[in-house]
Amino acid sequence: MAQPKYIPRLYGRQQDKPLKPRQARLMRDLLPQLAMSDPAQGTIDLARLFPQAEEIWMEVGFGGGEHLAWQAAQHPHVGLIGAEPFINGVAKLLVHIEEQQLDNIRIHHGDARPLMEALPDASLARLFVLHPDPWPKTRHHKRRMISPWFFAEAARLLRPGGELRVASDIDDYIRWTLMHARSAKDFEWTATAPVDWRNRPDDWPQTRYEAKALREGRTATYLKFRRL
Ligand SMILES: C[S@@+](CC[C@H](N)C(=O)[O-])C[C@H]1O[C@@H](n2cnc3c(N)ncnc32)[C@H](O)[C@@H]1O
Repeated sequence: MAQPKYIPRLYGRQQDKPLKPRQARLMRDLLPQLAMSDPAQGTIDLARLFPQAEEIWMEVGFGGGEHLAWQAAQHPHVGLIGAEPFINGVAKLLVHIEEQQLDNIRIHHGDARPLMEALPDASLARLFVLHPDPWPKTRHHKRRMISPWFFAEAARLLRPGGELRVASDIDDYIRWTLMHARSAKDFEWTATAPVDWRNRPDDWPQTRYEAKALREGRTATYLKFRRL
């Protein structure tokens, strides 16, 4: 039997605490207005979803959405797509959107991978994967977001000169990402000195997960790749 392109199941919890009343209201009333089209319906028409945007960026697994909301606020002419299966994370992003009155975010509440497959070629200028689930056990590595499938899709989706950003606080995941990037050949790692991967750039706000990792004594590594 042919190997699947990626494991089409989601792992881990998709909800922890019950939603607060405000979050539940936003899930009911605001999410339907901001939802991406269903990837099962075919190629997504980004011009319809982002009529004003000069370019489109996407974040895979936005967690609590603080990075996505920050980028949206800093770059009002960019359209941002966020994909996240975790209900509490989507609800937190909706609170950021309401509080900051952001109108340039569209949300896919679910697995990022079918959504990526439904986006048109060269439609993205930036793609972010920040602290993806590490899946440390060797037998679980096939569940990792970064994979040959991921780099092939990222190469298809990013326009030439577009940027892929990956962060992790797990050294093995960084090695894994660099190894896959090298085999992918369509990307160049832009670092020229250790400061480039050790220091978080100014236009890259800290995520909740990163803050937790730092509190627990781990350090984060920041990778930027340019689409050739
Ligand atoms: C370790 S957390 C990091 C969250 C956030 N990026 C941060 O740095 O705070 C990994 C996130 O990836 C999400 N995730 C896992 N599998 C995913 C998938 N297939 N598509 C989209 N997001 C996914 C999880 O729900 C989780 O929120």
